[in-house]
Amino acid sequence: MLSQEASNPGRRISLHGNWSSRTTFILAVTGSAVGLGNIWKFPYIAGQNGGGAFVLVYLFCVFLIGMPVMMSEILIGRRGRRNPVATMELLGEEEGSSRRWKWVGVLGVIAGILILSYYSVIAGWTLAYVEKSVTGQFVGASAEEIGRLFSDFTGNWVSVSIAHTLFMALTVVVIARGVERGLEQAVRFMVPALLVLMLALLGYAISFGSFSEGVSFMFTPDFGALTWDGVLAAMGQAFFTLSISMGAIMAYGAYLPEETSITGASIAVVIADTGIAILAGLVIFPLVFANGLDPADGPGLVFVTLPLAFGQMAGGTFFATIFFVLLTFAAWTSALGLLEPAVAWLVERHYRSRLQASIMVGGLIWLLGFGSVLSFSTLADFRFWRGTIFDNVDYLTSNIMLPLGGICIAVFAGWVMCRNSTSEELGSSGTGYKFWRFLVRYLAPVAIMFVFFQAIGLL
Ligand code: PHE
Repeated sequence: MLSQEASNPGRRISLHGNWSSRTTFILAVTGSAVGLGNIWKFPYIAGQNGGGAFVLVYLFCVFLIGMPVMMSEILIGRRGRRNPVATMELLGEEEGSSRRWKWVGVLGVIAGILILSYYSVIAGWTLAYVEKSVTGQFVGASAEEIGRLFSDFTGNWVSVSIAHTLFMALTVVVIARGVERGLEQAVRFMVPALLVLMLALLGYAISFGSFSEGVSFMFTPDFGALTWDGVLAAMGQAFFTLSISMGAIMAYGAYLPEETSITGASIAVVIADTGIAILAGLVIFPLVFANGLDPADGPGLVFVTLPLAFGQMAGGTFFATIFFVLLTFAAWTSALGLLEPAVAWLVERHYRSRLQASIMVGGLIWLLGFGSVLSFSTLADFRFWRGTIFDNVDYLTSNIMLPLGGICIAVFAGWVMCRNSTSEELGSSGTGYKFWRFLVRYLAPVAIMFVFFQAIGLL
């Protein structure tokens, strides 16, 4: 059965249906890419790692490592047309290597589960901030009051748990409804709307923030401020923000129609994703400096700077509400990508219904999430290795599992898969194809390995 199918990959069909068009695929991948990573995480880790130099390394990683890995993931997904574990197993064998490549898929499924466990908690904060916006809690508040609002809220594990539970429930509902009915609807308007609102906020930051200080913080590289751990963080962030190296994009690629251009889709997604992250930085840092805040403040950065600005501007309650609603949507469409690989795997491997599978995996993630919920309250002083439980899960996934997954995917697409297979999927064998192949064969694996070993002190 397997080998018969394997000899005829063009006929393979996905069990979960297909995207209805090229645009929906791009929307879904963009929806997965654009999320808390762009607006919440990028500014705060850029801030913690000194700004300019970090941003430069990040951009380098996004375009020269992230994009080729994204293309690899989509092409692998489309060729296998199964969940990431089964796809890697099938293609490993088909390309004359080993079925053991499935472990790359397993690593991805686990990374997705772990990331979603804390992602859902932060998304819960966002959801709770919708309520704080509507009820006008930021109006006229000082930096100190806004800071206290944030720490009081995150320190109250009961409210955070409720928000986390609600968000997980939303995610499970969409995933249980399946690919076409659930995912597509959610992304159609969210990305464009978010972009428009960010542009409006940029206008505010230019008029009322310390714009030039913010810009120079972001774009003047000071390499002295950058450590190898910072470089690793930039690389991890590049993978995280593009949703790559953990099977999400592979799972989405499995539903991609034959004729869609993988290169074109990847370019569109990478540009949209990077644009929104840079925009977020350009909004947030001018506000940080105008209000005498510290850019290295950590995970609370966005939840303090933006409410502060909303509290001062005319119509702030309205804009704040829209902003946090959109951010919740952005987080939602990303969470779908984090859950999909594990659910697709349970459905195909253990013959569960989508509903059952979503509830099972969702329940597990919900439970794991309490580690992060409590990291900001009861267990805030429980620290080991990289800090709180939240810090550790984040470090382990972004800075270790994603780079590892990235190397494996690049090596698989560049060295294991034969030229014919990859050039067939990418629809070309010209200069662009050769450049892609160079990046996945040499640059990506070597660069990731090098940074990785530097950061953990092995080089
Ligand atoms: N890219 C998403 C973000 O930036 C997070 C994510 C990672 C989503 C991996 C899916 C898979 O918020």
